[in-house]
Amino acid sequence: MPPSHQVTKSPGQKTVVKIMPNITNTSEKTRKIVVTAALPYANGDIHIGHLVEYLQTDFWVRFQKMRGHSCLYICADDTHGTPIMVRSRNEGITPEELIARSYALHVKDFEDFQIQFDHYGSTNCEENRELSERIFKAMEESGAITLHTKARFYCAKDQMFLPDRFVKGTCPKCAAENQYGDSCDTCGETYHAEELHEPSCTLCGDTPITRDSEHIYFELEPSRDFLKDWIPAHTAPEIANKLLEWFDEPLRGWCISRDAPYFGFEIPGHPGKFFYVWVDAPIGYMASLTQWCNQNNESFDDWWQNPEAELYHFIGKDIVRFHSLFWPAMLKVAGFKTPDQIFVHGFLTVNGEKMSKSKGTFIKARTYLDFLKAQDLRFYYACKLNSTADDIDLNIDDFIGRVNSDLVGKITNLASRGAQMLHKRLDGVCGVMEPAGHQLCEEARSRSERIATHYEARDFNKAMVEVRALADLANQYFDTAAPWLLIKSDPEAARSVMTSVLNLFRILAIYLTPVLPAYAAQVAALFHEEPYQWSDLFKDVENTPIGPYTYLAERVEPEAVAQMVEASREDTAPPAAATGTPGIAAVKATIDIDTFSKMDLRVATILAAEAVKGADKLIRVQLDIGDNQPRQVFAGIKKHYDPATLVGRQVVMVANLAPRKMRFGLSEGMILAAGNPDGGLFVVAPDQGALPGAGVQ
Ligand code: MSP
Ligand code: ZN
Repeated sequence: MPPSHQVTKSPGQKTVVKIMPNITNTSEKTRKIVVTAALPYANGDIHIGHLVEYLQTDFWVRFQKMRGHSCLYICADDTHGTPIMVRSRNEGITPEELIARSYALHVKDFEDFQIQFDHYGSTNCEENRELSERIFKAMEESGAITLHTKARFYCAKDQMFLPDRFVKGTCPKCAAENQYGDSCDTCGETYHAEELHEPSCTLCGDTPITRDSEHIYFELEPSRDFLKDWIPAHTAPEIANKLLEWFDEPLRGWCISRDAPYFGFEIPGHPGKFFYVWVDAPIGYMASLTQWCNQNNESFDDWWQNPEAELYHFIGKDIVRFHSLFWPAMLKVAGFKTPDQIFVHGFLTVNGEKMSKSKGTFIKARTYLDFLKAQDLRFYYACKLNSTADDIDLNIDDFIGRVNSDLVGKITNLASRGAQMLHKRLDGVCGVMEPAGHQLCEEARSRSERIATHYEARDFNKAMVEVRALADLANQYFDTAAPWLLIKSDPEAARSVMTSVLNLFRILAIYLTPVLPAYAAQVAALFHEEPYQWSDLFKDVENTPIGPYTYLAERVEPEAVAQMVEASREDTAPPAAATGTPGIAAVKATIDIDTFSKMDLRVATILAAEAVKGADKLIRVQLDIGDNQPRQVFAGIKKHYDPATLVGRQVVMVANLAPRKMRFGLSEGMILAAGNPDGGLFVVAPDQGALPGAGVQ
């Protein structure tokens, strides 16, 4: 149960607090709830799309805690799999180093967004290995594990089976060259690596051979009846309908093994085979909970296996299959409790479109924080989020409007006007509310269960509509009572009005606590109170001094938003050069000499240069490297060079860069240039005497 009301006293000051009956929570018994958000991949940064999930989960968990329930927010980094292995190889570091670096960044991002996990773990931990092995053994014992042999790419030189991302070749659908073995960047097609034309090993460049490899499958057909009942009972109807479409045919087994080398857990009894990352990722929920239990002297079974406890997974719509098909089947077969509900949300769009690097709308959590306040995004998302899996749109103008007119103009102004006037003119001491103001507080409180229902149902937008409506009433009251006039004739009457306004504002802040925890904590401090519980709604603050007013929220400057978008913009045109990032960036991770020697650098003479119409950065350049085969390159240096002055100059070219099809034609290489901290860009030139085609070493 929530702590009973506390009478707050600041030393030496008379404090009278009227305690109202607690009309919430009395009928509801304390719930035990485990809540998870999907584990973010350790190979990337947290971005504002991810935050749609981590924030809404945070709102919900904080709401449950405020209501006095025992609720745990559990998450972890998802650390295994090929992309992490590839990336660490490319950076010349170990996967462990890579995931440690990401972990620190992720934790900091979450903290700065006021996302409060009870435990944030990592899937690369012993608890997870043990649980994964245990669940796999149970799957084997249930008879659901089968072995199948498939022909897979194998590199004879590197002596290994090649994961999809270690093979490149020509897309079987659109014939784009240089595509990875899982999907094509050009046409978006997904395929098996073995379907690529002209495949090559990304490690050594050799053509891989196919070789038989045995793989381990988790059969779903034995779980058919269970799943058919489970899915509609634990997912929203639109999600269930989609999943159940697969049940018209026999359910296909799921391949849960990957060949070494793989960054993950080796499968017991199957040397050289590793669990596919999607096996140990959801088990990571259990591992992370186990760690929390161990650190807090609690029992895992009390939380996970307890039929009285509740378990919810918040996920995005892209990973429904893993959470609503494979996962419940795994848990069931292994004798674990299955989740009570899978809460699926949609994807974030920005200004109505998919987040885009070139438009600057693929915004990293950190970049956002460099320019704007976490609470503004929290507030905006709360205004937009509901319980459906529909996509949610961050419209930049709407974002600015909601923060400035609602959070600042409507809500926060109540406090800043009320508190500042009280401090300036009436010694900063609240009096007793006058009847109309008190009546309005009662009205605001009477909506508490409706607002609680919206929070519980994850209809955060509806909760925000209620709060805004109450803020409107409070502003009307403020303007009608006009304390700034009243103060001249009857200061005590003005005090009563301001006391009422501040009490109304306090109620709004309590309603906003799950969404704006830091803001609400500042409000609590203003009234010398502890962080709010839901039951604090039913308390009047009267005859008490208030603390100093500290800024709670500020207007968003459109300029700051524009700068954030600019900072997020990544050129999709090839940069002018391999080194062409403007600014003196930190030196990148080391590469070995073999990697470096793969680059063929040549002296080239510029034969022709012209600005590309319709591209504000590009110049089309014809380069001669001494072989009578002029090469066309699109260089992003239009802002820095007049094309006419380039003709005849010698530059250094990356001659063996895979050709790239651009909107304006084929780009067959790159020109080296160096970037200055001030944004200047300078083409790198050989000294006099170098001949076109000379190798640069
Ligand atoms: N590692 C897996 C999850 C394993 S859970 C056992 C994964 N990671 S992720 O980093 O790609 O995504 C983490 C969560 O963020 C997912 O629920 C995903 O749906 C969500 N989102 C990622 N991009 C998103 C948007 N653009 N919009 C909304 N949610 C997004 O999947
Ligand atoms: Zn090879």
